[in-house]
Amino acid sequence: MEITIIGTGYVGLATGASLSEIGHHVTCVDREEEKIKLLQTGDLPIYEPGLKEMVDKNRESGFLIFSRDLVKCCSTAEVIYISVGTPQNQDGTADLTDIKDAAVEIAKTINRDMIVVIKSTVPVGTNERLKQLMQDNLQYPVSIDIVSNPEFLREGSALHDTFHGDRIVIGSTNQHAADVVVKINEPFKLPIVKTDFRNAEMIKYASNAFLATKISFINEIANICELTGANVEEVAKGMGMDKRIGAEFLQAGIGYGGSCFPKDTKALIQLSGNRNHDFELLKSVVKVNNNQQVLLVDKAKKRFGDLSGKRVAILGLAFKPNTDDIREAAAIVVINKLLEEGAEIIAYDPAAMNLAMQILPRGIRYANSVATVLKGADLGFILTEWKEFKQMDLSEVKRLMKEPIIFDGRNCFDLEEVKFYDIEYHSIGRPTIL
Ligand code: UDX
Repeated sequence: MEITIIGTGYVGLATGASLSEIGHHVTCVDREEEKIKLLQTGDLPIYEPGLKEMVDKNRESGFLIFSRDLVKCCSTAEVIYISVGTPQNQDGTADLTDIKDAAVEIAKTINRDMIVVIKSTVPVGTNERLKQLMQDNLQYPVSIDIVSNPEFLREGSALHDTFHGDRIVIGSTNQHAADVVVKINEPFKLPIVKTDFRNAEMIKYASNAFLATKISFINEIANICELTGANVEEVAKGMGMDKRIGAEFLQAGIGYGGSCFPKDTKALIQLSGNRNHDFELLKSVVKVNNNQQVLLVDKAKKRFGDLSGKRVAILGLAFKPNTDDIREAAAIVVINKLLEEGAEIIAYDPAAMNLAMQILPRGIRYANSVATVLKGADLGFILTEWKEFKQMDLSEVKRLMKEPIIFDGRNCFDLEEVKFYDIEYHSIGRPTIL
């Protein structure tokens, strides 16, 4: 099919590349000229494993093109996807400005019956309003149908999650429109959940909120493990073997970040609150996560008493490995807290440095390798579990640092291994190695 996708962020690009990979003719549109120019020359504005190869292949074969001309791309499309951002407002509600603008622009452009697929995460009830907004702005006597098709892509594994996800959710009030989107996705051979708008919107928010809840739960268990001499890794293993619990998302650490969990949990709390339901549980999930992000600094303050003047090596800035995304990353909170304590910061991340430099405070030094960041450091913080860090040679770590003292927010190392190299090692939910 001829598909136009509006918005070339993580979701739009991964969706566009994947749909072209399964044989659709896809045009990705973005209003940012620089982004489109970059994409047309084969460069990607984001770091996502495997995406460049898939984009290059389909761009060269003509199945995937990039354009700024929304009017032209909407006139040739059989189906239009909207995957623009719905960032968080100050009060926690979702900012729908971009998606409403895109909807109006599409409505004013189309001159034939159209199916519009909403990929962006939007509060329950939004798709109905978007449908009405588009119908109110139509310039020609055509019909417009909306399908809610929320994404469940994890940054760093977006393509894997597209081709090997657990389900495709399709929310619509029009059977034909739903069937067209089912057909588009048929080559993925994934289970399809067909439902209405509100259920599709709620499935997205409830899924993310539940995953965030699972993370905050295991982090609280980790905190209690530290007080009881238990080891959260062993506890999580024992828990996860119960199929009702499941082994995934039980990795204790310094909490969740990224462009979704923080935003979607707060949006759901707002959405419930606006309907006079105080979502206490989810509010606690957010509170636990905020506390977890500063936990390492508290541990370091307890260990050193005073951190002022201490040279701290920060290993990892991205909110998770295999991405350059630093949005809501724990590293931002940790670094700001350490600066407040007067520490001297030097940071390294294999992919997120450029984006980090744009938002982290001035006065931080950056290194271009593990060796450089660790050299002469009084203490080290591991904030992202990059493979490069997990495979560090601990004898080298010991040789390079002034003092081999590591605060590991992602439990990268086995306690026995750390003991062997005689490194002082503080981690999450496990005994401290002194
Ligand atoms: C998430 C959802 O997983 C995905 O389905 C949705 O579409 C978008 O939001 P993403 O935020 O990209 O994906 O990454 P994810 O792998 O879910 O990790 C989110 C955060 O949780 C990261 O900061 C990660 O470090 C943290 N996390 C994840 C944990 O702390 N422990 C875990 O066990 C898993």
